Amino acid sequence: MEKLMIAGGYPLKGTVRISGAKNSAVALIPATILAESPVTIEGLPDISDVQILKDLLEEIGGTVEFSENDMTVDPSSMISMPLPNGKVKKLRASYYLMGAMLGRFKKAVIGLPGGCHLGPRPIDQHIKGFEALGARVTNEQGAIYLRADELRGARIYLDVVSVGATINIMLAAVRAKGRTIIENAAKEPEIIDVATLLTNMGAKIKGAGTDVIRIDGVDQLHGCQHTIIPDRIEAGTYMIVGAAAGEGVLIDNVIPHHLESLIAKLREMGVQIETNDDQVFVGRAEKMKAVDIKTLVYPGFPTDLQQPLTSLLTGAEGTSMVTDTIYSARFKHIDELRRMNANIKVEGRSAIINGPIQLQGAKVKASDLRAGAALVIAGLMAEGVTEVTGLEHIDRGYSHLVEKLNGLGATIWREEMSKEEMEQMKNA
Ligand code: EPU
Repeated sequence: MEKLMIAGGYPLKGTVRISGAKNSAVALIPATILAESPVTIEGLPDISDVQILKDLLEEIGGTVEFSENDMTVDPSSMISMPLPNGKVKKLRASYYLMGAMLGRFKKAVIGLPGGCHLGPRPIDQHIKGFEALGARVTNEQGAIYLRADELRGARIYLDVVSVGATINIMLAAVRAKGRTIIENAAKEPEIIDVATLLTNMGAKIKGAGTDVIRIDGVDQLHGCQHTIIPDRIEAGTYMIVGAAAGEGVLIDNVIPHHLESLIAKLREMGVQIETNDDQVFVGRAEKMKAVDIKTLVYPGFPTDLQQPLTSLLTGAEGTSMVTDTIYSARFKHIDELRRMNANIKVEGRSAIINGPIQLQGAKVKASDLRAGAALVIAGLMAEGVTEVTGLEHIDRGYSHLVEKLNGLGATIWREEMSKEEMEQMKNA
């Protein structure tokens, strides 16, 4: 097992290229199940979630070629193999196998998903959608059993705006009989990306990216080629890196429009930001000002950038308040930031950050993916060396993090953990 070592305080400069979007990739790959002939997805990120989904497609009989960042899936020999245990438990997005297998085979058995622990993450809205389409859904010993004689289009109102439920219902509905309308749908760019792939496969979808999505079911879907959108959360993370420790960082392969809420907040803090078609330049602010943040569904401020931004706010003058309205327990990074000398307290769903503080290197643990990103940013800002364990979380979502940061001039490396350190971690 490895840990990440970061020697803080080095100024970062140069260009970093953003990879394909994790939260698109984890839906696009299961979506290939719905076709009858090969689908190619270009530009996938090199992250463990992608590798696990590739293995799962092979487990159900798919033929998958994956080289560099491009994956071709031949779904023609897939079968509706039950997946109650094993790799499905490793990532949250394995729930997309439910919608895709239900759409193609009218049945599926999928273990309840794993993923980051951020407070309650029910999938009741996914199930409500599947049932409305005519599926019988039961939960037996930690696995969801879905079965339908036929899927019929329906009008589905989501009680909670959920990316996962919106995409999952779309996956099942594209091969249902008749029209499905999803109301109060999520509007994230990843939903448009999945709808674009499905449309290229022959699906009939209107309104993706708005809160009403209309789907007219078709009998069959065919293969196609699709290029994934850039990862707005990875891009946002590097923008925060640029503000935290940069002397001019250019973020390449990004859709600036996807990051308007972060751009506005960084500018409010006094950070210089310039954008063009597919790049964002982040200059260093001489003195950053405290700001308040409330996470909201897209196009509001993304919860996935709340944790990385908290680290940056420790260096801002004044008191900032970060409120997470999406997750009740996405503050596990705060205790670790405190170990690094941050002055933060958590009250309910808000973190109150007093700054500016000079962070100090320390031994810290990433409890989830974006907590990991937050600690890396803190490590880059800190005096001395920071050791981050829990790298398996970071590897789920950040493609070549160490190489990209070293490319900007950071001093960061992976190191094998000693037996004693691993024991200590287990007992912690
Ligand atoms: N929710 C429900 N019922 C549902 C679905 C969601 O009540 O059926 C509620 C949850 O309780 C929570 C909120 O809706 O309050 C978000 O839930 P969830 O974690 O299920 O969201 P998601 O759609 O599965 C996606 C991203 C997350 C991102 C959220 C919010 C993927 C694979 N995951 O999750 O990404 O935080 O939307 O934008 O797309 C990450 O990348 O680090 C990450 C966690």
